[in-house]
Amino acid sequence: MPTALIVLAAGQGTRMNSDLPKVLHKLAGVPLFAHALAAARTLDAEKTVLVVGHGGDAVRAEALAMDPDVIVVEQKEQLGTGHAVLQARAVLAGFEGDVVVLYGDTPFVRPETLEEMAKARAKHDIVVLGFKAADPGRYGRLVMDGPNLERIVEFKDATPAEREITLCNSGIKMAPAGLIFDLLDDVGNTNASGEYYLTDIVEVAQKRGLSATAVSCDETETLGINSRPELAKAEAAFQARARLQALDDGVTLVAPDTVFFSLDTVLGRDVIVEPNVIFGPGVTVETGATVRAFSHLEGCHLGGRSGVGPFARLRPGAELANDAHVGNFVEIKNSQIGEGAKIGHLSYIGDAEIGDETNIGAGTVTCNYDGVGKHRTVIGKRAFIGSDTMLIAPVTVGDEAMTASGSVISQDVPDGALAIERSEQVIKPGLARKLFEKLKSAKVLKGKG
Ligand code: UD1
Ligand code: CA
Repeated sequence: MPTALIVLAAGQGTRMNSDLPKVLHKLAGVPLFAHALAAARTLDAEKTVLVVGHGGDAVRAEALAMDPDVIVVEQKEQLGTGHAVLQARAVLAGFEGDVVVLYGDTPFVRPETLEEMAKARAKHDIVVLGFKAADPGRYGRLVMDGPNLERIVEFKDATPAEREITLCNSGIKMAPAGLIFDLLDDVGNTNASGEYYLTDIVEVAQKRGLSATAVSCDETETLGINSRPELAKAEAAFQARARLQALDDGVTLVAPDTVFFSLDTVLGRDVIVEPNVIFGPGVTVETGATVRAFSHLEGCHLGGRSGVGPFARLRPGAELANDAHVGNFVEIKNSQIGEGAKIGHLSYIGDAEIGDETNIGAGTVTCNYDGVGKHRTVIGKRAFIGSDTMLIAPVTVGDEAMTASGSVISQDVPDGALAIERSEQVIKPGLARKLFEKLKSAKVLKGKG
């Protein structure tokens, strides 16, 4: 059965107390809505529709940057979750398959749970995801009759007896596309909030003799984020799970509670991560690599047995081949570092290519930016870049070439050549002692006034 995903993300998120739309707040290094969009892969969705409203342009831009195939539709006025789903009707016209509705602020639904819902769809027209809430609070309640879901009642509209129900609505629903839009035509807004509730499709379906059921999951999966304390709690929950997962996957975390992961972090077996390391989005680390303390990594790839840090910063596009070594206080951006190459200390390497087995001396800088444009530095294999070399890009240093310490290299260096760029050293015998004495006596005179 082909599937389309609709992610609702138009709500204002007033309780975040923020200028940023709620779904753009980050969880595990990516915007909140990206967690729901990730379900599209699980479901192998043919189409993904994101319904945006408040801050729609910003959400649209981020969503398309992440996945150009996402169809973004706008809900100009937020008239309720049912009204929000209806905004996807036009773009899904003629779609023959199931629709899965997810909320952009509910990030933790597991793939297995969605699969269970799909199984239940074989016997029922509508499947709703429910959960037993420890504190049901303001969640909608699922009114069941055996396996049959009779209706969903919002807290505001519920009778005292219905408020006693602890099986709550997660918001996630699965139903045939044509049916869901058709049912929504019969949903009104005469309720406590004056909104078009998506939840009302269940009652409409029952009246038409169709069937609905609920699948239950753990409350941790349906955690919805409405405020910053909830966001912080969700982040903590994500990190706790990611750390356990990494340990199970054969990664050594010396101090797990001090390491932070992103949604898409990939660490190979026998990777060692020392304390206080942050994995921003887009990091892959191959088997046997070591990430030492206080390193910050994003958008980078570390080859097998490579090592970075302590205090290393790898920015997007940093690619380390196997056995490459990046030491302390080194920043690397958009650069390929060859096999066994070493950048041990205090360097900036940006927009560069460093060949295999090349050694970059302490304090080397690729001067990649001229104030307007960025330029590349290319260094060959087995080259030796002396400490404090300034490489003025665009520039090329050949295989087995050398630069002398302190050189400012603005011209290409051929293979095997040594480039020296510094003024000649002059020695003045005894002058230092004389100078010291002069300076000291001047200080004494000054002291006497
Ligand atoms: C909704 C459910 C409730 C459920 C709870 C779970 C309805 C009527 N109620 O309530 O049964 O227990 O979620 O968290 O569905 N949105 C839009 N456009 C709108 C309104 C909402 O896109 O016009 C989006 C929001 O951005 C959010 C999601 O839909 O991602 C849920 O909306 P929200 O207002 O948070 O619904 P709740 O009142 O929490
Ligand atoms: Ca909510």
